[in-house]
Amino acid sequence: MLKVGIIGVGTVGASVANILKDNADIITARAGMQIVPIIGLVNNLKKERNVSIPLTDDFDKVLNDDSIDVIVELMGGIEKPLEVVTQALKNGKSVVTANKALLAYHRYDLQDLAGDTPFEYEAAVAGGIPIINALREGLSANHIISIKGIMNGTSNYMLTKMINENVNYDVILKEAQDLGYAEADPTFDVGGFDAAHKLLILGSIAYGIDAKPEDILIEGIENISPADIEFAKEFDYAIKLLAIAKKVGTEIELRVHPVLIPNSQMISKVDGVMNGISVIGDKVGETMYYGPGAGGDATASAVVANLIDIARKGKGSPMLGFEKNNVEKLTLMSKEDIKSKYYIRLEVEDKTGVLARISSLLEENGISIEKIIQKPLTNDSANLFLATHICLEKNITKVLKALTNSKEVKTKPAMIRIED
Ligand code: NAP
Ligand code: HSE
Repeated sequence: MLKVGIIGVGTVGASVANILKDNADIITARAGMQIVPIIGLVNNLKKERNVSIPLTDDFDKVLNDDSIDVIVELMGGIEKPLEVVTQALKNGKSVVTANKALLAYHRYDLQDLAGDTPFEYEAAVAGGIPIINALREGLSANHIISIKGIMNGTSNYMLTKMINENVNYDVILKEAQDLGYAEADPTFDVGGFDAAHKLLILGSIAYGIDAKPEDILIEGIENISPADIEFAKEFDYAIKLLAIAKKVGTEIELRVHPVLIPNSQMISKVDGVMNGISVIGDKVGETMYYGPGAGGDATASAVVANLIDIARKGKGSPMLGFEKNNVEKLTLMSKEDIKSKYYIRLEVEDKTGVLARISSLLEENGISIEKIIQKPLTNDSANLFLATHICLEKNITKVLKALTNSKEVKTKPAMIRIED
């Protein structure tokens, strides 16, 4: 029997306890032994919850119980979970976690500490989609060319409702929170940080690269305006929050930001809480993974899969990168050297010479325009929608600053990268 202690019995933790009970027959058959949650830890013992396991609020009773084989960490946050996971590993217990914020900062130290003790986290990336397993096992014969995906259920749920149903941002965020999709602090979802945490984990597995959230480009969906949504609809684009890891020479590009994607592309159809990830390997070509990116049962499905894996093997293997790096040494690409196409929206004075001035500002900064559309807003102002050819991020940063300071532009310019 594999005995489990669950630290955090909220949305995901309660689902883990219930799946272990509801599907005990098939889990026992596949694991070759029973997997039993013997205790759960919570903050508030008085809270009503739909689980039948004994509960405690005393960490010692879980971490220092010698009969417990595996600690499942599902409390959220970084500092306290780091203490919990460290203590569990030091006590020789296997660990399963869904905590991508913890892993974004501490995956390498924790892997080192774990050594041969199993330390697994399938649920930390894209909820119920077994993407970590796909990269570690199924695609392990390939050099990974790129990983591109929608990796945050909350923001995708919000964008879908904002675009298809014109639902107000705050109303739809509250709905995602009530459905158990959002992080305790939803800024992580809408600000792109949660997707970035997941991307960093995949980046380590695919490329062996150790980067922290502060090292990479992260933008969220907070500044997507109704005017941008109208533009996207009119020109047959979807707006998605995309996380991208790409190998360019010996550098790895890692970034998270909203993009305009032509509606003809498969990933544009990934709506609601669903996540979708495309992985291109040098031998296999493109593979796609689609499934629920958040929610109690979907996420717990991946947590329990790790428990079954531990019961089957009883021994760990490194999750991040390669055993010993005798392969090509890859480095992180600087944010300024990223190349993309860009959409820029400008509210400008509608008078002679404005267009010429803006075109020359772009030209001075090495940016060439692919498309330009003007739509009147009032008698003396208009919205200018520009799509650029591929150019450098550092040039766009410079030109946005110049446009913000230019007297012809009335409000802060909006920018979204185009992925076509
Ligand atoms: P949640 O519903 O907020 O549950 C957190 C649980 O941890 C609660 O039972 C809470 O106790 C307990 N807890 C939190 N801080 C504690 C503390 N200091 N001391 C004791 N207990 C504490 O969170 P969740 O949505 O299940 O998420 C859990 C983890 O899974 C997070 O790392 C999250 O990022 C990750 N995750 C979530 C999803 C999802 O769809 N929800 C998907 C993938 C990954 P009380 O119940 O008493 O408050
Ligand atoms: N808050 C996260 C999301 C949970 O919405 O994707 C799953 O990691």
